[in-house]
Amino acid sequence: NMSTNISHLPAEIMLRLFHYLSPKDLCRCSQVCSLWWQLAKTGSLWRHLYPVRWARGDHYNGPPGDLDQEPDEEWVRSRQNEGRAYQKWDEDADIDESDVSGHTEGSLAINMVQREKKLLNGIIQNLLPAVGPSVKSIILAYSSTVSSKMVRQMVSLCPNITHLDLTQTDVTDSVFDSWSFLGACRSLEHLDLSGCEKITDLTLKKLSTGLGELPSSPSSCSDKTPQLKSFTAHIDKRNLHALERKKQAIVFKYGTRRWGGPCIPTPVWVVETSDLADIEDAAAWSRRGGMPLPESFVETQLMGGSCCCRTSRRQGHRMGSDASYLHQQYAMSGEIFCGHSTCCSGLQCLQPENRTDCSPAKRALKFLSLSGCYQITDLGLRTLSQHGGLPVMEHLNLSGCLSITEVGLQELVSACPSLNDEHFYYCDNINGPHADTASGCQNLQCGFRACCRSGE
Ligand code: FES
Repeated sequence: NMSTNISHLPAEIMLRLFHYLSPKDLCRCSQVCSLWWQLAKTGSLWRHLYPVRWARGDHYNGPPGDLDQEPDEEWVRSRQNEGRAYQKWDEDADIDESDVSGHTEGSLAINMVQREKKLLNGIIQNLLPAVGPSVKSIILAYSSTVSSKMVRQMVSLCPNITHLDLTQTDVTDSVFDSWSFLGACRSLEHLDLSGCEKITDLTLKKLSTGLGELPSSPSSCSDKTPQLKSFTAHIDKRNLHALERKKQAIVFKYGTRRWGGPCIPTPVWVVETSDLADIEDAAAWSRRGGMPLPESFVETQLMGGSCCCRTSRRQGHRMGSDASYLHQQYAMSGEIFCGHSTCCSGLQCLQPENRTDCSPAKRALKFLSLSGCYQITDLGLRTLSQHGGLPVMEHLNLSGCLSITEVGLQELVSACPSLNDEHFYYCDNINGPHADTASGCQNLQCGFRACCRSGE
């Protein structure tokens, strides 16, 4: 039989083809058959999410670095008009929210916002539970429908997120409630809260806690993490028996049967995930009960050392629900995590309550914009300088933060050794640090964000 059909192509070739498709086309393909449905839920296809743009027909899904500029004024104005029209309609509407007939004026804008809301809910309910650990960026700038609860749900499903843009949204301090608990923002590098006027010092406190504590800080994780380290440190013949009992308690608590070394940060091979998309995808399929991962493929591709994926398959474990168990086991044994987002990333979110995460914090935040968050005070800035400061912070925008002073700025800047003055913005009326070289307030030109000189 010489007939050829697209369904005869191997799954890895199909996946390559899927990488050329837009999010909309991927959704269509997922409805073709169960294999395509499985393939379309592959993590590497959904690294960067732009729901606001997608709802308006712009299906860009590349990394956000390519869009590292302010959207044009026309775009911003359209989103603002849509938001106002939707809000007015929402206030006037009867119980049946789906009916926009009869609203000739602004009905297009209302439809657009409704589509965005539906898309956001679909992403949260259907997509992120499958691909969340692979998601790196979520861009929600200028969304008129995203709520704090939605962002909370997204963040809790995407523990490895590095880029979050909430520019000009209506989110409140509760948006980061889950972060300090989940440790989800340990990998966060870029946070844009420009124009989020409800944000206060409380958000900065949660953010700083969520970023974790640098090992060199006075009260670092390895000092605080407790049970496991102290057990091995105090091994002593006299209380060996008691120790055994304690070990059993811990074994029970964490569901592991092996006792390892002290709880110190384990060296982790951080493999460039984009180079490993195929392996990662194959692992994801395997976890979902799809096609098996070819043994030789992984053996030859991984960067040496023993990997939790490989060993887990050798031992006959399935990845997924066992991930937490495996991570715990391998972290303690000193073996190497593979670094795959799909199989190793569940660590933080799957850890037990009152987590005792031993992985070293990086405080990797490079970009923070609080432009127009006028409720921020020196106290909020101080929380950011705690726990080891922000060692790699390069871009800090505090334009329109009317309540901060040079004292708070000085304290924060002294904890940001990598700050680039060209990308350091604050009120022109403050004689703060690096006054000669830092950039001034950006909000004077912006027009729609708080600024002490607006109206001049
Ligand atoms: Fe003072 Fe903009 S906040 S100049």
